[in-house]
Amino acid sequence: MSGQKVRKAVFPVAGLGTRFLPATKAMPKEMLTLVDKPLIQYAVEEARAAGIEEFIFVTSKGKDPLEDHFDMHSDLYRTLEARGKTAELEALKKTEIPSGKLFFTRQREPLGLGHAVWCARSALGNEPFAVLLPDVVVLSKTPCLEQMVDAYKTVGGNMLAVEDVPREDTNKYGILDVASENGKLAVVKGLVEKPKPEAAPSTLSIIGRYILQPEILQLLDNNVQKNARGAGGEIQLTDALVGLLGKQPFHGFRFEGKTYDCGDKVGFIEANVAFALSRPDLQADVLKKLKKLV
Ligand code: UTP
Repeated sequence: MSGQKVRKAVFPVAGLGTRFLPATKAMPKEMLTLVDKPLIQYAVEEARAAGIEEFIFVTSKGKDPLEDHFDMHSDLYRTLEARGKTAELEALKKTEIPSGKLFFTRQREPLGLGHAVWCARSALGNEPFAVLLPDVVVLSKTPCLEQMVDAYKTVGGNMLAVEDVPREDTNKYGILDVASENGKLAVVKGLVEKPKPEAAPSTLSIIGRYILQPEILQLLDNNVQKNARGAGGEIQLTDALVGLLGKQPFHGFRFEGKTYDCGDKVGFIEANVAFALSRPDLQADVLKKLKKLV
């Protein structure tokens, strides 16, 4: 089965970011800077590289900077041009999303990831779409979603990027129950949100990159109407995904690359070091400073 083209992506950015308080008191977590770009920009660039044409942000109170970041800033452009700052100008142009391709919908209360995706339903219509959690950043040669879209062209259906985690950490993630594996693809027969290590059916965790079929929206709607709360008292995306198992192709995808959880302080610091070291313009200087520090 080949998959219909994935043109739209949802970026859930309505969370409270409590693990990063007070930094996130007046600034969205997704605007935290990884080296020299906000987290949201990494996610948008990843989506763009995968062929995404329409970008749907699920926002909430206090998230305006996320909207402004992707605007055209004419005054700044003119000033940079006048000063001959071409590199800065080029960097700035990468933040642009053309008019009519960026959409915002509001999640009035942070009721969970499933609820956030449900909030984007009217903008999604009846076609497959991607979901990217911007606080998870992947350092890889080929962007993670692009790897997924390539695999999806062959198998279609629903696809979740996954990686192995230590068994003692399964209670932090959505975990797959796998029927069979073929190379990077794992056929999924079950999904559990944040299982205790002893109850986890595997150690394959969902990292925060999804390709989903539109039928998920009806399942999410059912759960929202019933106020069906899952792990952490939230309306979980994983719980609704269970309803598609056995009905549509459903795969876990072992991508190539390393993930960093930038919603967590240690993960965020590690990501800053790793991304800086991956940059030819910064590597040598950063390494020198790090060696002095440790
Ligand atoms: P997290 O659970 O990591 O984000 O959600 P959080 O709730 O903001 O963070 P903490 O735990 O309080 O520190 C992953 C992504 O999903 C979004 C978040 O904004 C983040 O980008 N999200 C989460 C929503 O959009 N709505 C929600 O109800 C929950």
